Amino acid sequence: MSNPNVWPVSQEEMAEQRRYMADVRALADRPQTYFVVTYGCQMNAHDSETIAGMLREMGLTEAVERDAADFVIFNTCCVRDNAERRALGNVTWLKEVRKRKPDMKIAVCGCMIQEPGMAERILGQYRFVNLAFGTANLYRFPELFWRMLHAEDTVLEIDARNTLAENLPVCRLRAESAYINIMYGCNNFCSFCIVPYVRGRERSRRAEDILREAEKLARGGVQEIMLLGQNVNSYGRDAGDGPDFAELLRQLDGMGIPRIRFMTSHPKDLSDRLIEVMGTSRHVLPQFHLPVQSGSDEILRRMNRHYDRARYLDRVRALRAAVPGIGLTTDIIVAFPGETEEQFGDTLSLVREVGYDSVFTFIYSPRVGTPAAKMPGQIDPAVATERIERLIRVQDECQQQRMRRFLGAEEEVLVENLSRRSAEAVSGKGRHGLSITLPGGAADIGRIIPVRVTGLKNNTLTAERLDGGGRE
Ligand code: SAH
Ligand code: SF4
Ligand code: F3S
Repeated sequence: MSNPNVWPVSQEEMAEQRRYMADVRALADRPQTYFVVTYGCQMNAHDSETIAGMLREMGLTEAVERDAADFVIFNTCCVRDNAERRALGNVTWLKEVRKRKPDMKIAVCGCMIQEPGMAERILGQYRFVNLAFGTANLYRFPELFWRMLHAEDTVLEIDARNTLAENLPVCRLRAESAYINIMYGCNNFCSFCIVPYVRGRERSRRAEDILREAEKLARGGVQEIMLLGQNVNSYGRDAGDGPDFAELLRQLDGMGIPRIRFMTSHPKDLSDRLIEVMGTSRHVLPQFHLPVQSGSDEILRRMNRHYDRARYLDRVRALRAAVPGIGLTTDIIVAFPGETEEQFGDTLSLVREVGYDSVFTFIYSPRVGTPAAKMPGQIDPAVATERIERLIRVQDECQQQRMRRFLGAEEEVLVENLSRRSAEAVSGKGRHGLSITLPGGAADIGRIIPVRVTGLKNNTLTAERLDGGGRE
């Protein structure tokens, strides 16, 4: 690894952690059941799968519900204030629950733990927590767990290393669709965002490790892989001579896994070569999540995003030319400090101009330690709420319009679950990323089913099956 900022975890260290797992497993009075509560993005969801994998290796099984578990761990997010408050509220609530179950152990990990001042808070207000560790320390969880079982006081481990560990046990939540981390951390320092401070610098996994993981999943019959990174478009840049993201995607495409997805992309790093690979691949799905954040050049500049509206629209045009009908989604922040009514209007017009299949909208939330939190012109919450509502209304109109392009079209659905509305229906995702409901039952979950789209209900498409199945 040619990147001096990366701390690759050695095989010896991993062997040591495996010994801890065996030691915990052999303990007579260890916790028997666990429950993982996850907040935040796919990265965290995947980290939780790793935590569950390690807990299983240590002999624990998943509890039916949180409050009945012997060990509860909160994997937290701090990207916005509400994510953080929800997590802390639930941690505090569990202290009450423990009064009825005194042997319960409580742990907190994830991005929030890496925030400045968090160690002091844990050892003060949250002293009742048995174990807390940061994102860099995830691979040491078996050792920390062992120490927790032998400690009177809170066990706390936080550090700022950019660790990169391989071969951790994983207990995947879904059999048909699997997350694969291709890189960790972020170097972009968008002025509103705390992620680079809590997830460290960009570091890419070695291509051979990624390909080996994908191959194993392919042999196990996985239908879909989702490649994860804060900015997948810069994959490999830190590692020197290995493949870039476009090349990695091309190699994965050749493996025969039916569906390949990835997130997140940064518009400044979206290369022509990647667009070309999207256009010529067989299994990379025709969908793209391309966060724009704002439609105003001035706001984009102050957000430190390194592209302007024209460049963004150019990337959208190139994607649409290479992959006709591509499903396009984005993230938008309203009420960034100093955002004027006119600048917000630029965001509305951009949303109309692009025509997204879906938009994730957020009210700007100041994060301590980020440059934007100190910028003048913090916006009144009432104005922010009014803006986000207007944005959602505009997007709803565009979305309904966009969804009509599927009426009568053939699609394929990877079935994820039974429909909440009907006993004889299932739902899943089409190739373009939209939710589709079709007739079916439990046996269809995890399968890819050809359908024809027949209707449109709220934000979902309804479809009939083209495989003759679904009628028992
Ligand atoms: N790495 C990804 C995702 C980062 S977090 C990316 O670059 O897109 C996901 C989204 O949360 C961001 O795209 C942004 O829209 C939103 N977000 C991040 N920080 C925020 C903040 N301080 N306030 C409101 N929204 C924020
Ligand atoms: Fe945050 Fe920007 Fe990095 Fe995304 S690219 S994680 S928004 S700093
Ligand atoms: Fe949240 Fe951390 Fe993801 S802050 S959005 S869980 S990287």
